[in-house]
Amino acid sequence: MIDIAILGYGTVGSGVAEVVSMNAGAIRRHAGQEVRVKWILDVREFPGDLFADRLTKNPEDVFGDPDVKVVVETIGGTGIAYGFSKRALEAGKSVVTSNKELVASHGPELMHLAHDHGVSYAFEASVGGGIPIVRPLTKCLAANEILSIAGILNGTTNYILTRMQQEGIGFGEALREAQEAGYAERDPSADVEGHDACRKIAILSSIAYDRFVDYRDVRTEGIVELTSADMAYAAALGRRIKLVASCRRLEDGRFDAQVRPTLVPIDSPLAVADGVFNAILVEGNALGQAMFYGRGAGKLPTASAVVADVVECVLHVDRTPHYRLWHREDRAVVAPFGETPVRLLVRIDPGGAAEDPRAAVQAAFAPLGGARLVFRPSDLAETGLAFVVGEGRETAEADLRAALAGLEKLGMRTRSLLRML
Ligand code: HSE
Repeated sequence: MIDIAILGYGTVGSGVAEVVSMNAGAIRRHAGQEVRVKWILDVREFPGDLFADRLTKNPEDVFGDPDVKVVVETIGGTGIAYGFSKRALEAGKSVVTSNKELVASHGPELMHLAHDHGVSYAFEASVGGGIPIVRPLTKCLAANEILSIAGILNGTTNYILTRMQQEGIGFGEALREAQEAGYAERDPSADVEGHDACRKIAILSSIAYDRFVDYRDVRTEGIVELTSADMAYAAALGRRIKLVASCRRLEDGRFDAQVRPTLVPIDSPLAVADGVFNAILVEGNALGQAMFYGRGAGKLPTASAVVADVVECVLHVDRTPHYRLWHREDRAVVAPFGETPVRLLVRIDPGGAAEDPRAAVQAAFAPLGGARLVFRPSDLAETGLAFVVGEGRETAEADLRAALAGLEKLGMRTRSLLRML
């Protein structure tokens, strides 16, 4: 039998205790021995809880207990969770986490600490909740050069976008719905501003390219500015707007890594992921495309991934860690925003300045491959122009934006700029 401890008895932590108990037989078969939750560390009281006999407020019970071989960190954030993770690894205990913030910011250091102490640092649940993606990228796709990753990595924003698209409601109303349904936090900024997806794509990219991708280098834009008019134009173009986190290696060895609202074709595998579901499209040079789809959040789905990592750690107790190491100094060079080619849907308010706004748009973009005007959806009250640029020939985003700035000098106002896949 092997003992584990859970740090943080919130949604995921309590799910871990539940899964370990509910699926004890399967876990024993896969781990080769019984797994027991010995300690649950949390400062809060949980009167009458099923696992009340394991609860402690004293960290020493966990870190000083030689029987505890694996510590599950489900506290979240980079404060206490960071200190506790270090302490566990230094005490020779493997650490399993669902904490993407911590992996994205302190992953290299914690992996090295694990390596130095001959234990594992595992984080399958940090991306895609219950969807297997970290281990498939690490192991099953090891024979590929990964050409690109494009994913819907945040369930909250996907729920909001789905409601906006299906019901024609605005961002604010859809966010309120998401909060009422328990999907969005009271302070939803990490989700709706794209920071959560940013951490996750940084982690996936670091695994795929074997170089540390610093999340601070990933250009990140959220969904707060999106309007019903954006949704209507996307539908008119046979597309859906998704918050897509993407990374690809450029020919010069640098990387293009971004999180932004993106128009995906309706027949793209990414477009089928609605509601709180996540979808991750990985393209390998031998495999072609593979899609990973499922529940990217939630108590039991996330606990499913955490406990699978616990099993992996149990199998590796007293052996070398089972993940590659990221070196902070071997940092991937992410191309500055604007340098990479893009296709954009642009919506503008022509203002009164240009006599013939359509002609002005065509003239501005003629040297950059032209602009394709998009018909205004019949049910849209908003006036103005919409057009697609960057499809006549490959053009860096900065050049497209510079042409747009020229139009703004004529009195036009840019309403939105959306990437098209
Ligand atoms: N807030 C996250 C989401 C939870 O909505 O996807 C899982 O990381």
